[in-house]
Amino acid sequence: MADLNEIQTLEHDVLVIGAGGAGLRAAIECAARGVNTGLVCKSLLGKAHTVMAEGGMAAAMGNVDARDNWKVHFRDTMRGGKFLNNWRMAELHAKEAPDRVRELEEWGAVFDRTRQGLISQRNFGGHRYPRLAHVGDRTGLELIRTLQDHGVHQGIHVHMECTVLDLLKDGDRVCGALAYWRDTGRFVIFKAKAVVLATGGAGKAWRITSNSWEYSGDGLAMAYLAGAELMDLEFTQFHPTGMVWPPSVRGTLVTEGVRGDGGILKNKEGKRFMFGYIPAKFAAETADTEDEANRWLKGDKSARRPPELLTRDEVARAINAEVKAGRGSEHGGVYLDIASRLPAEQIKRRLPGMYHQFKELAEVDITKDPMEVGPTLHYFMGGIRVDAESQMTTVPGLFAAGECAAGLHGANRLGGNSLSDLIVFGKRAGAGACDFAASAQAPVIDKDQVEASMRRATDILNRESGSNPFVVQDKLQDMMSHNVGIIRTKSELETAVEKLKELSAEAATAKAHATSQYNAGWHTALDLRNLLLCSEAVTKAALTREESRGAHTREDFPGEREEWVKYNVIIKRGNDGDMVVEKRQRPAGPQPLVEIANSKIEDLEAGKVGADYQ
Ligand code: FUM
Repeated sequence: MADLNEIQTLEHDVLVIGAGGAGLRAAIECAARGVNTGLVCKSLLGKAHTVMAEGGMAAAMGNVDARDNWKVHFRDTMRGGKFLNNWRMAELHAKEAPDRVRELEEWGAVFDRTRQGLISQRNFGGHRYPRLAHVGDRTGLELIRTLQDHGVHQGIHVHMECTVLDLLKDGDRVCGALAYWRDTGRFVIFKAKAVVLATGGAGKAWRITSNSWEYSGDGLAMAYLAGAELMDLEFTQFHPTGMVWPPSVRGTLVTEGVRGDGGILKNKEGKRFMFGYIPAKFAAETADTEDEANRWLKGDKSARRPPELLTRDEVARAINAEVKAGRGSEHGGVYLDIASRLPAEQIKRRLPGMYHQFKELAEVDITKDPMEVGPTLHYFMGGIRVDAESQMTTVPGLFAAGECAAGLHGANRLGGNSLSDLIVFGKRAGAGACDFAASAQAPVIDKDQVEASMRRATDILNRESGSNPFVVQDKLQDMMSHNVGIIRTKSELETAVEKLKELSAEAATAKAHATSQYNAGWHTALDLRNLLLCSEAVTKAALTREESRGAHTREDFPGEREEWVKYNVIIKRGNDGDMVVEKRQRPAGPQPLVEIANSKIEDLEAGKVGADYQ
């Protein structure tokens, strides 16, 4: 029996778990309000998936095209998300992103500039106007650097290399978490009046991913086990362009900024194939005139909008189809050519990260030769269901922001909407958590919960024999890539459900040798519970949604089905501990927002729609 007094205990008013953009921004908000704030990082501060959003953060500042404004950004986001987005979140995001970007500038972020000295903005898929405020092709890194520099001077208590095992509850509300230090393996109890989860997605369940080892769905799994609802998990984003060669770096992100700055995609026959994949509906909605839409569909390269800047779901499916049809590149991708589109000196200036990445990792000079690229699992649109204003989950005192929260992006996220999501809703989650903590009772820790969590962890070290956690994770990645990939079918998804049961049984006996210090096998075994749980949730949600929408493509249910836009797929824990999948009716959008989202762009810009709604 554990004596709680013997376990290191740290107390904060608000505990933020996850130190990427959303976690840092939430922690800054709390600290700025004078609240005692703890920030837990699974690895080192600054190492976060946020840095993989390279090309920029979307905010309708209108610096490069003055026609841009929050309504157009909102409209693009809803259309990109195939109208499944949470209306209020999409509105708040579009309205608040410009202020959050300017705030970063005040805190020292060094953005690229227009000739007039304004923050420069570039094109990205699905955004009508150049909208992505950027710092070359390392925008996420600059965002993290800025928040980190600002945050450490706010008196945030940072706990690095610390992995949270489970949330702790006091009755219905959350009251802290049990964690362990990765270097020593020693346990630590965090007591808190409110907890913010900002732990990202679970990309590590797939073989080819832009996610690094930290992304095992910890926040999603812990929230679910604590009673929160998960939502929209069938929508997993495959970024169209990850590296495909050499094998050691397969999946590493190649920023959409390459296409935003003019890069084009070609198959092995040298054909610019994306013209063959423009959905007629999309062309009609996006082009300025019918004539432009027709020219575009016929492959007229002078049309204003290149097809490489279709939304990510469309581009990833097109690449997948080219490779399947035998028109792929040498190593199973397609070619991304910027060399013939921009002078070498501009490529090096605008895309320095890509230049060095390909030079050093693939021995390719992108100012001379094309890159080989293919889809890579990049992002979870789904996650923990939250309240749009405060980001509180269905568990009192538990908040979520960033990739681990659901709602903003609907069925497909537009590139660049992730960094703006982090700063808009990170701040809101911090504010929500502070407000909650201000009136919350002192947390009381339940010894039984701590013991159960510690036992789950130490059993892995203590059992005599068992499965190898690395092997189980390896099998999981193959299985998910094969059965729950870009194109899905009922039979493959059902196979995945069965295989997940087998893998969960194997994971339940996982054994890690030796001590709890610096034990990578132990860490991997502990992550498996979360990875498997998220994989099950994704698979069951994908089986439930019998249509193709955004990033969820069912070969057996092609096309969007009108009926399905009315529903979210919710995953929650049943009373018997089993996973419950529910098809839940979505609230209808407020009339002015519905009108803006559905408007013709010329009507919106002429003020014929939404003019009274600010
Ligand atoms: O391609 C990119 O630079 C990624 C951006 C994003 O995911 O938002």
